[in-house]
Amino acid sequence: MEIIIKQNYDQICEEAETIIYQAWKKKNNLVLGLPTGRTPLGVYKRLAALHNKGEIDFSRVVTFSLDEYLGLKENHPQSFASYMDKNFLQHINIKKENIFRLNGTPENIDNNCREYEEKIKRFGGIDIQILGIGRNGHIGFNEPSSSLSSRTRVKTLTQETIEANSRLFKDKNEVPRFCLTMGIGTIMESKMIVLLASGEDKSEAICKSLEGPITASVPASILQLHPQTKVIIDQEAASLLTGKEYYQWVYKNKERVSDYLEKKK
Ligand code: PGA
Repeated sequence: MEIIIKQNYDQICEEAETIIYQAWKKKNNLVLGLPTGRTPLGVYKRLAALHNKGEIDFSRVVTFSLDEYLGLKENHPQSFASYMDKNFLQHINIKKENIFRLNGTPENIDNNCREYEEKIKRFGGIDIQILGIGRNGHIGFNEPSSSLSSRTRVKTLTQETIEANSRLFKDKNEVPRFCLTMGIGTIMESKMIVLLASGEDKSEAICKSLEGPITASVPASILQLHPQTKVIIDQEAASLLTGKEYYQWVYKNKERVSDYLEKKK
């Protein structure tokens, strides 16, 4: 894992933007896995601005949404499909046929989930999966106790997640109890994972995920086994990490390995 500690939220978003932009320069049919939530908003804003400046072209980019509420139609204002359109997709030149989402009102849930996995495979897998993290360590809607090798499926949300997401609904009772989410096994097959976290309320989840044991009780802890994971967090989210200084030292020296070898010659 590469742990990148930035001063603030804006710098986190800038780092994620750079990673995506550099990846797109190498492969302009990039396959992105995209989350909802507050955390990625700044990244979407930056990418849309980059597009407006004519620096990035999304016409060959493919996106897969990470999760969706079960029972909400695509055009429901609180569906994750609406979120993605409003906050990102309608601001870029992505082709409609390249946008893939989990259907919140499927006729057959199991078939739908299986087809979603097949579509991801058909596009050669996800190149970069962006993730936020829940205060309980969830990734996507894989709540604690989710199998660490789970696939796309239905999950029951925790009370805590329902509470956290209720700010977007008029009434807490309107928040769906169930969701569809890519599984942890699905997420782990992404070629690169970029997890973003900002704020003190994420510090405990970040600490347990990065420095604690790998356990289904903290789903994000599985990322310790992923060979290409970048965790980009601000000072507040990093505040409980015991290895914080070392991670900063590693990052500072990152570009210098070749210089170092050169000098040793
Ligand atoms: P947030 O949600 O970005 O709104 O904090 C993250 C999550 O619950 O995965």
